[in-house]
Amino acid sequence: MTELIPAPRSVVAGEGELRLTAHSRLHAGTGTEGVGHWLRTVLRDATGLPLREGREPDDAGGDGVRLRLDAGLGAEEYRLVSDRDGVLIEGGGPAGAFWGAQTLRQLLGPDAYRRAPLVSDRVWAVPHLTIEDGPRFPWRGLMLDVARHFTPKEGVLRYLDLMAAHKLNVFHFHLTDDQGWRIEIERHPRLTEIGSWRARTKTGHRASPLWEEKPHGGYYTQDDIREIVAYAAERHITVVPEIDVPGHSQAAIAAYPELGNTDVIDTTALSVWDTWGINPNVLAPTDNTLRFYEGVFEEVLELFPSEFVHVGGDECPKDQWRRSATAQERIRELGLADEDELQSWFIGHFDTWLTARGRRLIGWDEILEGGLAEGAAVSSWRGYAGGIAAARAGHDVVMCPEQQVYLDHRQAPGPDEPVPIGWVRTLEDVYRFEPVPPELTPEEARHVLGTQANLWTEVMEDQARVDYQAFPRLAAFAEVAWSALPAPAERDFAGFERRMAAHYRRLDALGVAYRPPAGPLPWQRRPGVLGRPIDGPPPNR
Ligand code: ACM
Repeated sequence: MTELIPAPRSVVAGEGELRLTAHSRLHAGTGTEGVGHWLRTVLRDATGLPLREGREPDDAGGDGVRLRLDAGLGAEEYRLVSDRDGVLIEGGGPAGAFWGAQTLRQLLGPDAYRRAPLVSDRVWAVPHLTIEDGPRFPWRGLMLDVARHFTPKEGVLRYLDLMAAHKLNVFHFHLTDDQGWRIEIERHPRLTEIGSWRARTKTGHRASPLWEEKPHGGYYTQDDIREIVAYAAERHITVVPEIDVPGHSQAAIAAYPELGNTDVIDTTALSVWDTWGINPNVLAPTDNTLRFYEGVFEEVLELFPSEFVHVGGDECPKDQWRRSATAQERIRELGLADEDELQSWFIGHFDTWLTARGRRLIGWDEILEGGLAEGAAVSSWRGYAGGIAAARAGHDVVMCPEQQVYLDHRQAPGPDEPVPIGWVRTLEDVYRFEPVPPELTPEEARHVLGTQANLWTEVMEDQARVDYQAFPRLAAFAEVAWSALPAPAERDFAGFERRMAAHYRRLDALGVAYRPPAGPLPWQRRPGVLGRPIDGPPPNR
């Protein structure tokens, strides 16, 4: 009954069970009103029970639910007691109470995840027990790439719900790339007018000869973004926006050709990119580009309250800068050694700019090359090395090594995975992923804020493919990020799989198109076309 995912710190079973009925009340104490609103809404939808407001702290009665804060707990910690007095959820802060409410939903069984009751007269039972729980890491992230394939707003909100159900709390929103610009910027309207649509799209891996010959695009208005950020906040999820510079910028250059290296190529001939890989068309390191992006970031800061703002910084080929008289002049003027230092200068500009506005820069681990301002943090994606170097240099780190937690990579060997790219990383591999490398001293390890799974979408063209790649592995990832698991080799994967049997029923009720445990049906292959497995490394990009 208590097949919880992620596993809590401790569960002490009692005897008996509590039943929610039409008489059950829900009382949310001071500071937990938002959690109470969320819990009442989802449980009313699923159960059809009214869960009327309890008027006094103890008015929830013996069959009701009470939420309150307990200052003795950490902000994200909670205690859930189910006994003859009802269910009492105490959180150190509202977030803790919210994670406790998520646990209650799991305890009620899979149908508690539905949007309408299946029958009117069923019993909603919670076993008597006491759970004490709290997260291992403060940063339990998921990145969604909405640039390569656009996820309409409803799909983003749905992923925020799925994250919350797994106690994940940082949504890294990859909003811009060569293949699309997805956020409205009022002062630069062409970013979305031109930059949010492409004429056609490569089908499958970039080596595939196939194209989907129809336009693909979409973007979020600023009101959409406000709604997404508020919806996330209600679920105690922070949205970290990413505006990727100075590489991965062809969509922006297609919209505003002066942003590119105009003395090297005719940037007016560029369109939003229609295929995958590392793109040579990068931003020009000019004052005009800096001012343009300061304008972009000004609007981004108004929309996203998160402390961290992601500036990308990955995969910026230097060929155009080598050939550009303007870029070379800038290198001379600034007394820099080479184009790599020019990239550091570019990132450093926004590091200073964000810091002056009370925010912190975070970027992919390439931003380490050439030095970083104090306070800047690193998403370690090319393995652990960048994260180790960053932690040793005193920078905070989010561990998201592509070899372990790039969920666009296939999750089984064999020819029948619908997204056949990258390294094979099974559910068990993800369960045995360890975010803190043993090389770090305890002091250095304190810089590991946490970990993040990344969903790049070059070959995930719709919601069903994203679900398939994300699940069930995101459930294993969530347990790695939340629960205090033993060392990788000692983790009880068989026990996790047993709990997954219950969790698949929850995912069913949530409508998640996960990879079936036995894998997909074999299909007749078309050799050499999109189904050809591409062994990593290199991955798709
Ligand atoms: C990345 O995968 N290029 C961060």
